[in-house]
Order: sequence, then C-alpha cells, then structure tokens
Amino acid sequence: AVSLKGRDFIELSDYTPDEIRYLIDLAIDLKRKLKDGETYHPLKGKTLGMIFEKSSTRTRVSFEVGMYQLGGQALFLSRNDLQIGRGETVSDTAQTLSRYLDGMMIRTFAHRTVIELARAATVPVINGLTDLAHPCQVLADYQAVLEHKGRLEGVKIAYIGDGNNMVHSLLIGAAKLGMHMSVATPEGYEPDEDVVRMTKEYAAETGARIHVCRDPREAIEGADVVYTDVWASMGFEAEQKEREQAFASYQVNEELVSRAKSDFIFMHCLPAHRGEEVSEGIIDGDHSIIFDQAENRLHAQKAIMAAIMG
Ligand code: CP
Ligand code: NVA
Repeated sequence: AVSLKGRDFIELSDYTPDEIRYLIDLAIDLKRKLKDGETYHPLKGKTLGMIFEKSSTRTRVSFEVGMYQLGGQALFLSRNDLQIGRGETVSDTAQTLSRYLDGMMIRTFAHRTVIELARAATVPVINGLTDLAHPCQVLADYQAVLEHKGRLEGVKIAYIGDGNNMVHSLLIGAAKLGMHMSVATPEGYEPDEDVVRMTKEYAAETGARIHVCRDPREAIEGADVVYTDVWASMGFEAEQKEREQAFASYQVNEELVSRAKSDFIFMHCLPAHRGEEVSEGIIDGDHSIIFDQAENRLHAQKAIMAAIMG
C-alpha cells in the first residue's frame, strides 16, 4: 500500500508512477464522497498555511475550501503581510511557521524558494506554482483526462504555446504515467532542457513518447488532448507585446484542431486570454473541459493534503 505521510509535494518528479496514480484515484474517491454528501474529516484540528507571492483565484479558493471540507482550516498569508516581504529569511519563516502549522502551501516565483522552504520546514510543503512547475494543476488535469478518456496510458497530449511551468509539469506527469506528449513552441520559448531530459528518461521506462518541436500542426496531429496556456505568465507581463508577435501562429483555433482526433478534448489551466492563445469558439465550445479541470483542483488537492498531512 502507498503511504505518503509527511512527504512534500513539490514536483511530480519526486513521485513514482504508482504514487501519482494513487493520488489521482484518491481524488476520484474524494470527489464521489463529496457528491454523495459523505463527511470525511481526516484533517480535523489541522491548519494549512498558504503563502502567496503571486495572484490566484483557483488555487487559493480550492485549497481553502478543500482544507475546510477535510475538517481543518487554512490561513491565507500574502507576501505583503508576512515579514518575508520585509526581508525575513525563507528559512526563519519556515521554522517559525512549522511550530504552528500542520502543512504549508506556497505560490512563488523562484522554484528554489519552495525547495528552501521545504528544507527548513518540519511540516509538509506543497508547491502551489513556481516559475518552473505547477504540479497541483497537473494532478487535477490528469484526473480530468482519466474521467473523460477512461484511461491515461497511451493517450496523446499536444501542448501548443509557451514552454512554461505548465508544460514542465505536464511533461513530467505524462512521462511518468505513460502518456504520449508533443510540444510545439516558438524559438526562444522552449521548455527547460533539464526538464525535457529528465522527462525522456522517465518516458524510456514507461513507454511514453515525448516530442518537442516547432510546428503546432506537427504537434497536434492525432491528439486526444489539446492543451494551451497564456503566452505571458505571471511575472512576464512586461513581455506581453513581444510575446504576442512571437506566438501569433500558435493560437489553438478551429483550423489547427482539425488535425487532432475528432473526439479531442481541449484543456487550459486558466486564467485564459480568449482570442490570444485560444479562439473563443474552442475554449467555449463542446470539446472544452476547462471547468472540469478547475473543479478537480479541489479534489486533487484534498487528496494531496489528506495523503501527506493525514
Ligand atoms: N490554474 C490556476 O492555478 O489558477 P489560479 O492562478 O487562479 O490559482
Ligand atoms: N503559466 C501560468 C499559469 C497560471 C495558473 C502562470 O504562471 O501565470
């Protein structure tokens, strides 16, 4: 049996395929429990601290509601209100907060901040997004793929757009779960080389096929899942104009998706910019499952918290 008690959740690379699958199955079970009105309070009396150095709608609300549904409570801690904003070290913050809390979630810029926090903390730390990774989103997303496609292994995902935090976590998750993934990005916006290398090593073990290319039409050919994300992520807003030019031929629209499988599903982590990375017709059309993904953030994160903090 899988036990994840006391573990951090920083990137899917830290988890085995069985452990990831365990969390997805637990998320599906917690989703059913919630819909059936079953109470489940494994975290009664426990508190999660949520440190936010960037904005959030889904992550903040789903963690807070999720913690409440599991019988515990969550504290919203914004960078500006913490002494961290005035220069207290990440390590001192981690050691102090560990004396009050049963777990911490952090959304920040540099990935090393999360690593540093986890190293100094004596309670589990969850990555709620960094510039490098967004593993909570991917757990929820692959739960949604499983729900819609009935399987994960052998499913083909095409990611079109920026080689950002989303694509990194999607790649690692896909390779670990035996899903095939093709990524198309403009020149200069490729996914991180180390992540791609690591992903290919996992893929060799699971039979996943990982392909990184330039041409969106090549990437989307025969895809079961079409995924995109904003062209300018949080922290890159100043580059919006130059990115609009670089990504102009990378919009997921009616013409591009005609090359995907006829029953493809469209996915986006949200927030989205309609008319930029995706046409309105596709994101609001019949193939889109964006709000199932958003909903699953609640179930997937409850699974993570119950498993590591329970
Ligand atoms: N997808 C996601 O993480 O959304 P928020 O930025 O609203 O949390
Ligand atoms: N890539 C986006 C994801 C937001 C959930 C960002 O980092 O802003």
